[in-house]
Amino acid sequence: MAFSAALDDAIARHRAEPGSSLAASLVANMTNVEARAVLAQLLIAGNETTTNFLGNLVHLLLSRPDLHRGDLSAVVEEGLRLVGPVKGLLRRATRDTEVGGCPVARDARLLVLFASANRDEAVSAAADEFVPDRPELRRSLAFGRGVHFCAGAALARMEVRMALKVPFGALPRLRLHDVRRAIRTGEFHYGLTSLPVAWRAENC
Ligand code: HEM
Repeated sequence: MAFSAALDDAIARHRAEPGSSLAASLVANMTNVEARAVLAQLLIAGNETTTNFLGNLVHLLLSRPDLHRGDLSAVVEEGLRLVGPVKGLLRRATRDTEVGGCPVARDARLLVLFASANRDEAVSAAADEFVPDRPELRRSLAFGRGVHFCAGAALARMEVRMALKVPFGALPRLRLHDVRRAIRTGEFHYGLTSLPVAWRAENC
């Protein structure tokens, strides 16, 4: 309720004083109901996902310093495949069909597990291993597939590439402080609730 109220306030502000921001142009072209839905979607889809992914990837890289890192884009792509933040999403079948030999009736509700498909041995050899120079990297389903493919994929890839430069560029002696990690469980999201790290200065 508080979140909805905050969105309504923001929409009213943008209507009263139109500006050049993304939110302002969305509001100018939508009804209040549409603007609330789209802004909420952007805030949730663009925030929780990237936060979780960054934690998952930093955790993976710090816990396995032996891993071959390769170039940053490939690290991000392979990270998305292996520890991507969206485990799966719901779908409704629009017609009778079949998936992997299993009949699916029209209107059936399905939980499509992108994370499971990303570890499909028929697509990726040694699918549980982190191998940033895999040829099939761009085939991962971390951002979904089809008409609902993630609208923020390019932004998310860039954000994570930039964010990784801090732990692995400016702070090369960063290490995990506590190997225990807390994983948020749920049908859809995969991420850490905390990631304690320690850093040793060069002259210590
Ligand atoms: C690592 C970060 C991210 C991951 C793994 C991710 C993943 C996904 C997935 C799996 C979907 C659903 C695709 C489908 O249903 O087939 C999705 C949709 C979406 N994402 Fe992302 N996302 C990320 C970051 C972002 C960011 C930064 C934004 C925007 C600022 C964003 C905006 C959206 C929107 C608007 C949709 C809905 C697209 C539609 O239904 O047409 N996402 N994302």
